[in-house]
Amino acid sequence: MSKETKFKPSASFVKQSAFPSLARYKSMHRESVKNPKKFWDRLAKEELDWFAEPKKVLEWKEPFSKWFGGGKLNVSFNCLDRHLQSGRRHKAAIIFEGEPGDIRVLTYQQLHDEVCRLANALKGEGVKPGDRVMIYLPMIPEAAIAMLACARIGAVHSVVFGGFSAESLKDRILDCGAKLVITSDGGYRRGQVVGLKQNVDQAVASCPEVRRVIVLKRTGHIEKLNEVDRWWHDLVKDQPADCPPEKLDSEHPLFILYTSGSTGKPKGILHTTGGYLLGAHLTTKWVFDLKKTDLFWCTADVGWVTGHSYVVYGALSNGTTTLMYEGAPNQPEPDRFWSIIERHRVTVFYTAPTAIRAFIRWGDHWVKKHDLSSLRLLGSVGEPINPEAWLWYHRVIGGGRCPIVDTWWQTETGSHMITTLPGAHMMKPGSAGLPFFGVDVAVVDDQGKELKPGTQGKLVIRKPWPSMLRTIHGDPERYAKQYWSEVPGTYFTGDGARMDKDGYFWVIGRMDDVLNVSGHRLGTAEVESALVTHPAVAEAAVVGRPDDLKGQAVVAFVTLKSGQKAGSELVAALREQVSKEIGPIAKPDQIRFAEALPKTRSGKIMRRLLKEVAAGGAVKGDVTTLEDLNVIAALQSSSGEES
Ligand code: PRX
Repeated sequence: MSKETKFKPSASFVKQSAFPSLARYKSMHRESVKNPKKFWDRLAKEELDWFAEPKKVLEWKEPFSKWFGGGKLNVSFNCLDRHLQSGRRHKAAIIFEGEPGDIRVLTYQQLHDEVCRLANALKGEGVKPGDRVMIYLPMIPEAAIAMLACARIGAVHSVVFGGFSAESLKDRILDCGAKLVITSDGGYRRGQVVGLKQNVDQAVASCPEVRRVIVLKRTGHIEKLNEVDRWWHDLVKDQPADCPPEKLDSEHPLFILYTSGSTGKPKGILHTTGGYLLGAHLTTKWVFDLKKTDLFWCTADVGWVTGHSYVVYGALSNGTTTLMYEGAPNQPEPDRFWSIIERHRVTVFYTAPTAIRAFIRWGDHWVKKHDLSSLRLLGSVGEPINPEAWLWYHRVIGGGRCPIVDTWWQTETGSHMITTLPGAHMMKPGSAGLPFFGVDVAVVDDQGKELKPGTQGKLVIRKPWPSMLRTIHGDPERYAKQYWSEVPGTYFTGDGARMDKDGYFWVIGRMDDVLNVSGHRLGTAEVESALVTHPAVAEAAVVGRPDDLKGQAVVAFVTLKSGQKAGSELVAALREQVSKEIGPIAKPDQIRFAEALPKTRSGKIMRRLLKEVAAGGAVKGDVTTLEDLNVIAALQSSSGEES
């Protein structure tokens, strides 16, 4: 299909929207980038509740920013207490559906009380402002409660996705120096109990600094706790439902979230209080065009940044009702999501292209069984959405009447950076759209020169923005080098993109050694180091291969130590090794054995070549053929193509 196909939001949508015209967006965007301090100062004061108003909007010493200096606030106060005074006290804050079908509703008052009880319990355990707390929970309300309880007392949370292994959890606990872990006995996924507690036990065994593990009872299959463990319900039962929120500096750290980079282990992205909250709050409000009556469902797990900014902080600071679902989209049947939308009357639905492609595969008949007429707006996030998936989403899920916002952003950006504003902008399937307010993005060449519309280059951000990451936890040099040295004077996103003549951005994907598998970021270096921990492996190189469903699939090229035998048993063992080191999401889709890996004369692995081999390879599945990559490398070298 033509890339220039445009869709207009319907007149009735435009009429009720906060930004009903392109002209309004344009003038406000112009103002926001021309005079960002004035723009953000006004919004910070209008939209957030401060104990002390900020005095200095921005202090910028590239690459380090401080926003809203002198301001004091508390994120949990903004997400809870302020709604108790505003008529939302008894409104549902969270509607939760567990995979087995259990439903719970927490009003703002009830959520406030639960958060305060846990906050008091954390204080009782000696947690002080600035201390790090690990959260390793399923998608249940307690995940949000734990995050908000930390925010309330100024503790810095680090949520680890429940699909990560004990080893990954251990690395993160050690890197951020957490002394307390919050987990559950398990959660439900695909009809099974996922045993989170065993992973915590294993991780904590190598983390002597951890002095307490709080265990929520969710599945009830654990009876005995270890010495370091306490039941959540025991710790909170006598705690008062009131805990005064700490008055925190705007730059007080709020959370550390680990994400994959192109080198080494995942890095701890640090977000702070005022700027992050303003970004999450405003994008939720305007990009999803929130109304008082909305039921907002973002399907992301709280272990990812999308869960942080849109399931929890952005939704609750706006006083909206956020829906949380614990389990898999095809449990018990492939229509679970549609039955949830129908049952609860979800109005705004936000999910990932990889999920949409799975829904397409499962068939329209699953959708047709349900009444989705409550939906009024759809969102997409995590990877480029192919136009075919966009059109299906628009027609089959949105009934042709719901605009789609395709939101481009990153763990590091904290909130949406490029997206259409649903009432103001035309939509172009496959393009994320236009920059959000205050965001100055451009496509540039290696020297930082802005490229003409239509030309592909590096996607950069040229001005600081409130919800930007502040640093990599414990490694400011890596932060400066990783993001601010590639294109001088700008933040390099790692993505390649082009801008069209209307100023719409078309994100192509990562330019670095980061894969995007089902919308999840994975560093090739991480998977490689997991593979070489296996005693049979001499060397490993991991690349991405285009995949119809997942966006990218993981292909590993492996050379073996002498005397080791390639075969399907070893393939299974290597996949298991990666699952153990990182988590099941990182398991290679294909493992290919080679005599040697193709290298440049300076010894660098020729990834471009491997990508071509992986993409064009006729071999499918877990093959165990031995590939003579030397020959290809020699050919490639002689034609001067070195990566
Ligand atoms: O490559 C871009 C892709 O996901 C990367 C960020 O991944 P992560 O930090 O895990 O955050 C995912 C959720 C925000 C980006 O560098 N990406 C994210 N959203 C889009 C996207 N690519 C194209 N279109 C999007 N809407």
